[in-house]
Amino acid sequence: MSAKVVINDVGPRDGLQNQTTSLPPEERVELINALLKAGVDHVEVGSFVSPKAVPAMVGTDIVLNSLSGKPGEFSVLVPNMKGYELALAAGAKCVAMVLYGADGMAQANVNMSRADAERAMEQILQRAATDGVRVLATIAVSWECPFDGPVTKETVADITRRFVGLGADQVVLADSIGAANPQQVRELTAMLVNEHGAQRLACHFHDTRAMGLANVFAALESGIRSFDASIGGMGGCPFAPGASGNVATEDVVMMLEQMGYDTGIDLPELMNASRLADRLTNNAPGGRAKSWLEGHLRKKRKARNQVHE
Ligand code: COA
Ligand code: ZN
Repeated sequence: MSAKVVINDVGPRDGLQNQTTSLPPEERVELINALLKAGVDHVEVGSFVSPKAVPAMVGTDIVLNSLSGKPGEFSVLVPNMKGYELALAAGAKCVAMVLYGADGMAQANVNMSRADAERAMEQILQRAATDGVRVLATIAVSWECPFDGPVTKETVADITRRFVGLGADQVVLADSIGAANPQQVRELTAMLVNEHGAQRLACHFHDTRAMGLANVFAALESGIRSFDASIGGMGGCPFAPGASGNVATEDVVMMLEQMGYDTGIDLPELMNASRLADRLTNNAPGGRAKSWLEGHLRKKRKARNQVHE
């Protein structure tokens, strides 16, 4: 199994969409640049959704534009064809579209049934194939829906099978409300890796019940090597009651690097990005290992300075 793990930072979308105050596009770009500086080369930079539904994502076209020519994969979330068209016009090369494990969440998030959302996403996939746009298919509430309760493995396996068949580049299993436990994660990921291979799959965990890292580990054990995480642990969906922040990028990188995996990310720089996220939003909790990490990096800095004296 490869020792390389891809981290996709969704903070600039999942994190910032949920803030009470909206950041101007220049500050969103500043945060993304801090992530790039730390070596994060996959970032979900915003969404093209109704400005009434999520005012904080207005200006994603400006954000995308400011990043043009920079190396990295910059995805944007699209909830419908209108969002796709806006994304394309803004120069997006990768879109994250959303499917649902349950009707309740589809209704709350996009005012559609699960089946209608799937039909819209099928059309987007067809368009994307001719436009040469990469498509990440996120399955929201892959384990549990805040409205309809538990989601069966068979439901998620069926959606995955259909959308892999339709040409989705990657299927992202999302625990949108942070309700899954590592055993459930292991069961679903093992089953899907067995059917599709790990390359096609990624996971997206929220840390609501402090099981985010354990869930990353469970998926890792199944062979998954691609994870969403959010700088400073920001995040949550305004339409999913009870969802707290995503598993923090700094926690995930710390754990993976300590285990010998290669994320290509520099932790001290990542902590700078985390501090910036907090300075900009006044509301980024940081990872669960925040105080240890800060103390540890301070000590390392001090030791390095002494050697140089
Ligand atoms: N981007 C920008 N504007 C959009 C849009 C998009 N992707 N899709 C629709 N709109 C506009 C319409 O033009 C319309 O504008 P108007 O009121 O000025 O005429 C308005 O939004 C309502 O459109 P309608 O098609 O009636 O949609 P709706 O009110 O049923 O809302 C969604 C459906 C999908 C647009 C909305 O629920 C949404 O944007 N949800 C995203 C939620 C989200 O981002 N959740 C977190 C991430 S998972
Ligand atoms: Zn999320």
